[in-house]
Amino acid sequence: MTITTPNNSFNATLQDLIEYPANGINSTVLLKDNNSQYSLFCLAAGTNIDEHTSTRNAVITVIEGSGNLNLEGKDIALTPGVFIFMPANAPHAVQAKENLAFTLALSEHLPAKKGVSQKTIDIVKSTAPVIKQHGKTITTRMYEIMFDTHPEVKSQFDMAAQANGTQHAKLATAVYSYATHIDDLESLKAMVDKIAHRHVATHVLPEQYPIVGECLLKAIKDVLGDAATEEVMTAWAEAYQALAGVFINREQQIYQNAS
Ligand code: HEM
Repeated sequence: MTITTPNNSFNATLQDLIEYPANGINSTVLLKDNNSQYSLFCLAAGTNIDEHTSTRNAVITVIEGSGNLNLEGKDIALTPGVFIFMPANAPHAVQAKENLAFTLALSEHLPAKKGVSQKTIDIVKSTAPVIKQHGKTITTRMYEIMFDTHPEVKSQFDMAAQANGTQHAKLATAVYSYATHIDDLESLKAMVDKIAHRHVATHVLPEQYPIVGECLLKAIKDVLGDAATEEVMTAWAEAYQALAGVFINREQQIYQNAS
């Protein structure tokens, strides 16, 4: 539920909007425009939000209750009035000790990091033949991991295309094309455009990219086994992030033009 859009002025006393669920999280978008988003989060005592990252800068301001935020491995006590800035991509996890309410402000989507290092280009290109050879096995494994760990994304997918493997093959082709053209993204423009339109049609959001990234990297590691050295995995992590940035930007343009 969104309380308002930027067309209307709005003021509220946050304490009056706080509503705790019996278990888990109650989140309300207070204000959203094309760039930023402000939400109120109410966590029932004992709720945990597992470690994750965001592609946007974020600010948490605690209103009431108590808990813990682990930000990049450091514990920060959450008590009323605590204000925390979390840069994009910083891993974080939340634990509510008592009922806990805070606001979360998300910044604009940050521009994609321009390019990846030459070392990453070389390593990713060197893995292209194995990615081609094992492409469908990797993407099949990636969907298996994703639907298992994030079942909520299932509703966005055409499960018939999943069952007959069409989607696995399309993703495998896209990943292989990227591996071979990582230093020539211009030549992937038509492919990116087609996928981005499909993503917008299925309501893919920027914050879902880290989920796919994590599952794809795990799948590459599972399938390549010993060939997935730390160096290879670091290169693919950097490469995926750059590709995600390309999609997020293109999709933001499509979402904005459509609205
Ligand atoms: C860099 C990362 C990604 C790549 C390379 C990628 C690739 C693709 C490709 C090749 C397609 C098929 C497009 C077509 O039908 O022509 C597709 C569709 C789709 N992707 Fe992605 N994708 C990525 C990230 C994501 C993310 C983050 C999500 C969010 C959950 C997502 C969800 C979907 C959905 C729902 C479809 C439509 C599937 C269907 O019709 O059943 N993708 N993607």
